[in-house]
Amino acid sequence: STRVIKVDPEHPEEGSLREAGRIIREGGLVAFPTETVYGLGGNGLDAGASAKIYAAKGRPSDNPLILHIADPEALTDIVEEIPEAAKLLMERFWPGPLTIIFRKKDCVPYATTGGLDTVAVRMPSHPTAQMLIREAGVPIAAPSANLSGRPSPTTAEHVIRDLSGRIEMIIDSGAVGIGLESTIVDVTGERPVLLRPGYITYEMLEDLLNEVQIDPVITETKPDPNLKPKAPGMKYRHYAPKGDLVIVKGPMDAVIRAINEACEKDHAAGYTTGVLASSEAAASYHADVVSDCGSRENLEEIAHNLFAVLRDFDEQGVEKIYAECFDGEALGMAVMNRLRKAAGYHMMTVEYTERVKTMYAKIIFVCTGDTARGPMAEAIYQGLTDENRIPAIARGTVVLFPEPMNPKAESVLEAHGLALTSSVSQGLEAADFVQNTLVLAMSEQLADHVRSQFPELIEEKQVTVDTIKAFNGETGDVIDPYGGTLIDYEAYYTEMNRLIKKTIYRLEEEA
Ligand code: TXA
Ligand code: MG
Repeated sequence: STRVIKVDPEHPEEGSLREAGRIIREGGLVAFPTETVYGLGGNGLDAGASAKIYAAKGRPSDNPLILHIADPEALTDIVEEIPEAAKLLMERFWPGPLTIIFRKKDCVPYATTGGLDTVAVRMPSHPTAQMLIREAGVPIAAPSANLSGRPSPTTAEHVIRDLSGRIEMIIDSGAVGIGLESTIVDVTGERPVLLRPGYITYEMLEDLLNEVQIDPVITETKPDPNLKPKAPGMKYRHYAPKGDLVIVKGPMDAVIRAINEACEKDHAAGYTTGVLASSEAAASYHADVVSDCGSRENLEEIAHNLFAVLRDFDEQGVEKIYAECFDGEALGMAVMNRLRKAAGYHMMTVEYTERVKTMYAKIIFVCTGDTARGPMAEAIYQGLTDENRIPAIARGTVVLFPEPMNPKAESVLEAHGLALTSSVSQGLEAADFVQNTLVLAMSEQLADHVRSQFPELIEEKQVTVDTIKAFNGETGDVIDPYGGTLIDYEAYYTEMNRLIKKTIYRLEEEA
């Protein structure tokens, strides 16, 4: 039977891990928290303990384990040499979510390294992990504490579900902080190689080391049978939920529509359906289980929730799972690496629900008072286009008398080298519409207002009325900085700059 003990994650009580340390020293297994995921620990210098770890996880024994140490000095006992690059990495990122590959000393058994002459070492920052390693008095070999093939555990409950009855003890310190396994870097060759992306991003490594190579299996979107990953574990289909998982990539409105259609079909065929959604789009899905994985603006949140959400689909018996795509730099590389593997590389790409069929003759940016968001959009648009551009103006829905541009809006524009020569607020009028006008409103409410105010004109002149976000396949309204500080106006600028780039790209691409 497996004992579960609770230990304060921040300040583990003195002596509370003595028994756990003894179990490890004597060849037994203890699952424990780290800042990345829970680990399944055993004495890393004891071939018998490593064999037990493989057996408990049901893991192939050619997949090497990571040795966890509590002090950098412990490194000299287990590795042949510490290259310059490793010294820099250790100084910057230890203790923390970074694993480094070294040439091993003879005392590290091949049972721990999967037969390799190299060994993976990391120094976790989690206080419980550090105290356990000190109590054990030996480097602790620890893979993630899940059954082979399942998502890595981010809570003690996950571990209990997978390993209860198979190991001596589980230390419960609550949910982990990061939620994805450590970044792995190999420094045994001429150039450092990133073997597994994690919380320490490629950009952060590159910043410190220069010329960091990326093992191509990390970013592959289709598995190439000729590519052999340099971290043997990366070849396995990890992180898999029990249900079929498909990643759906494309503009958000098309993604939402495609996922809803697929769920409707699956549901009719008798399957339980689930969606792995961003907070921004979660309310738009119709499925048996919709799991909000966090905001697109905050990939740390997505990373933190990913494995728990995947496990939760299993708990709820979901058979068909559709996931949004979280492409991007930095932490996006680690998130997508795990998600692609969880999906068995099953990816579906969708296009805009409607193509741009019209050559637009004029663009009207519509906001409320025409003193900030509208004129800023107009200025950004002019800054990004040349004189061959489709002409654009800004108008408001509520303009009682002409006013000059909001001074904060003006100074943010100025800071970005932009200006409008003459901007006085103007209300939207019938005379503003020409044949094939494109109205891009700042919010759903403003778009509705235009539609209800000019129904005949819109029909007669074939005017398209949309929010600028919907036009670009996104959902929601743009930031309204009204009444806010310069920082709010700057945030609006950033968002609008991005949206106008997308708009221009879409008009050029599809015209
Ligand atoms: O965050 C983490 O690293 C967690 C916690 C518990 O520390 N551990 C973890 O271990 O993720 P595991 O066993 O699930 O993944 C270890 C990875 C595997 O992909 C393995 O192939 C790779 O590290 N690895 C271990 N030793 C290696 C070596 N000598 N050369 C190349 N890759 C190695
Ligand atoms: Mg693992």
